[in-house]
Amino acid sequence: MTMKNLKVQFLKEATNTDVAIVVGVFSGKELSSAAQFLNDTTHGLLKTAMDTNHFKGKIGDVLSIVAPNDLKVRRIILAGFGKKEGFSQKTLQDIGGHIYGALAATPDKEAVFHLSDLSEGSLSKGDVAAMLASGTLLRSWHFNKYMTKQKEEDLPQLETLTVITEDPESAEKAFIPLKAQADGVFLCREVATEPCNIIYPESYADKIKDELKPLNVDIDVLNEKDMKKLGMGCLLGVGQGSRKESRLVVMKWNGGPSDQQPVAFVGKGVTFDTGGISLKPGLNMHEMKYDMAGSAAVVGLMKTLAARKAKVNVVAVVGLVENMPDGDAIRPGDVLTSMSGQTVEVLNTDAEGRLVLCDALWYTQEKFNPQFMINLATLTGAITIALGDLHGGLFSNNDELCDRLKDSAHKSGDALWRLPMTEDYNKLLKSPVADMQNISNGRMAGSITAAQFLERFVNDVPWAHLDIAGTAWIDNRQLPTSAKGATGYGVRLLDQLIKDHYEA
Ligand code: BES
Ligand code: MN
Ligand code: ZN
Repeated sequence: MTMKNLKVQFLKEATNTDVAIVVGVFSGKELSSAAQFLNDTTHGLLKTAMDTNHFKGKIGDVLSIVAPNDLKVRRIILAGFGKKEGFSQKTLQDIGGHIYGALAATPDKEAVFHLSDLSEGSLSKGDVAAMLASGTLLRSWHFNKYMTKQKEEDLPQLETLTVITEDPESAEKAFIPLKAQADGVFLCREVATEPCNIIYPESYADKIKDELKPLNVDIDVLNEKDMKKLGMGCLLGVGQGSRKESRLVVMKWNGGPSDQQPVAFVGKGVTFDTGGISLKPGLNMHEMKYDMAGSAAVVGLMKTLAARKAKVNVVAVVGLVENMPDGDAIRPGDVLTSMSGQTVEVLNTDAEGRLVLCDALWYTQEKFNPQFMINLATLTGAITIALGDLHGGLFSNNDELCDRLKDSAHKSGDALWRLPMTEDYNKLLKSPVADMQNISNGRMAGSITAAQFLERFVNDVPWAHLDIAGTAWIDNRQLPTSAKGATGYGVRLLDQLIKDHYEA
């Protein structure tokens, strides 16, 4: 396992005393009733601690104080809840994550949340308890599989999270789909983090089978011969320079009525992107191991949907290739023929993601006639220039699908921002020798021209492209619900979308 498994339980009251107690404080240092009770029994310790620190009760404020000797617990952690109203799944998960941040700095093995006096609008007390716990769980994931010299005692020690609530049964029930969501996010992060000598197309396809078959997801793996028969010249062109054979993995979850058209997700799975003959500079090239994060989000999503037995029919298709320079690699200027029949002049072999996706999208649309198609891809560096790591780029041919996605983004915390697509941008892909070229001639609007390229492989089906190059991997800071590195971006977003709009 890549982390300590955190046990989460919901109880009416706690019995263990060798624990860290967590209580909530609202903006303006307003104590929750549990915090008030503790403050009274400790003769005002909590108030003093807040006044002598920069703790205001905002979301993100956490204060860890050693419990006085006569109080039979190890520690008291104050957690900022911000304003008293307006809680959502995102804010509660963030708060739970911030609490984990404070707990990870201690050697405590058990934490007890006394936050049961909260409920909010449509969220019951059970929902609130479950959402807080799931945020803590999400933040607890770490990847230390290859650390052979790390000392056990230097790692976070938290093993048990006990949430005190008036209604443990309803909290347990609300936690089931959130646990499924966390499991999907963890799988996404795990495969995105694994180095490329471990995760390459063939081993990745095996990993997908190992993870999803036990959950009754149907899996078909197409090899290069199969794809050649289908005419997937663009995807195969990208993989041509690699010693590793390419794969297309098709996953099906049939949780909906048998006559329901499926929804479809498509992921870019470039297991390593050197750029190919248009070789990338060496600095930070290792980061291109996460160039399969779009596919990882799709695989993680399938795990979540199957684990929570979502009442929907879903197909997911991931194109798995490695982009390497080689004597047999595609060259700038080569012309490839896609499965759609359209030809592409490859002006830059580093614009490979769109070549993988164009065949995967065409295949998905032709074979499954889906209600919609959403693809996820670490497609362009330009999207990180435009939006940083704070929003994924959203491109679409359908306003309704876009509005739904934006709403799910808002609720889940996986933020999105829509960018334009127009015929004038589309024209920039005109090639003098083939139906299109894979990049425009200048460097302008690189994320948009990439989206325009993809749209040429989508007919009338409602389609959205999420460019997640900036949001899938965040190295410069921890997020409330994720450590540095792979964020699992996309899993919660799309689980929310399915839950709100597509389940029977
Ligand atoms: N995988 C990269 C995009 C990327 C960049 C992902 C940074 C994550 C972080 C993609 O295949 C690529 O190389 N795109 C080129 C396109 C260019 C050649 C038009 C880019 O963004 O520079
Ligand atoms: Mn590239
Ligand atoms: Zn790439």
